[in-house]
Amino acid sequence: MKILGLEEIDSTNNYAKMNIDSFEDKTVIYAKRQNSGRGRLNRSWVDLGDGNLFMSIVLKPSNSFNEIYPNITQYLSVSLCKVLECYGLKPQIKWPNDVLIDGKKIAGILSETVMEGHLLKGLVLGIGVNLNSCQKDLESIENKIATSLNLEIGQDIDLNAFMAPLLNEFFANYDEFLNSGFKLIKDEYISRTCFLNKEIRVQVFNNIKTGVAKSINDKGELVLLSNDNNEFVLTIGDIL
Ligand code: BTN
Repeated sequence: MKILGLEEIDSTNNYAKMNIDSFEDKTVIYAKRQNSGRGRLNRSWVDLGDGNLFMSIVLKPSNSFNEIYPNITQYLSVSLCKVLECYGLKPQIKWPNDVLIDGKKIAGILSETVMEGHLLKGLVLGIGVNLNSCQKDLESIENKIATSLNLEIGQDIDLNAFMAPLLNEFFANYDEFLNSGFKLIKDEYISRTCFLNKEIRVQVFNNIKTGVAKSINDKGELVLLSNDNNEFVLTIGDIL
């Protein structure tokens, strides 16, 4: 694993994608400041100042796309939960990969694929974790109730001391995950979910689906039972 630290960048994901040819498999890029961070579903990811984590991991598992690659975000969400648990917290996962503390979002994950024709050049797995933010800045984030690790435990967080165990946790079973897929982490993922057996609304592109979140299947998909007893298997979406 190689680690590259930058002072300021538009987005670590953009930087990793633009320079993907020059990065080896398992290269980690992080920036102290990120002025145009991007989130899932065309949202932005706000820079809450120095000491927060803005990181992208370049992965080059093979030259062609494999259906388990989208599940790497779920694998990373479980790795993150385990690190947060070491701080005495009880993080929960909101499908597919948001990590929450008491219903407040503390981290977001955005995976992007770089293709050249049918050839997979690599995956860029971006993660933002609020480590050192102030309440006022968190409240200014639109449409989102957010929190930060420093506020949860009442002390400042050392960025490197957080990043190292997160990367260790992630890479500890990453190769095995590539061989086994979501099933490897299914139980660990489900035990941390906060939406199962509840009535939820899920935005899927321009559609809203409503129903009871019945289960997470072996592919990490969300199985939703609608009020008229139809089962929907969702591969992408955003629980509202
Ligand atoms: C989301 O919850 O919408 C995903 C947010 C992902 C943010 C991270 S911060 C590092 C990396 N660079 C980006 O531009 N986005 C990701």
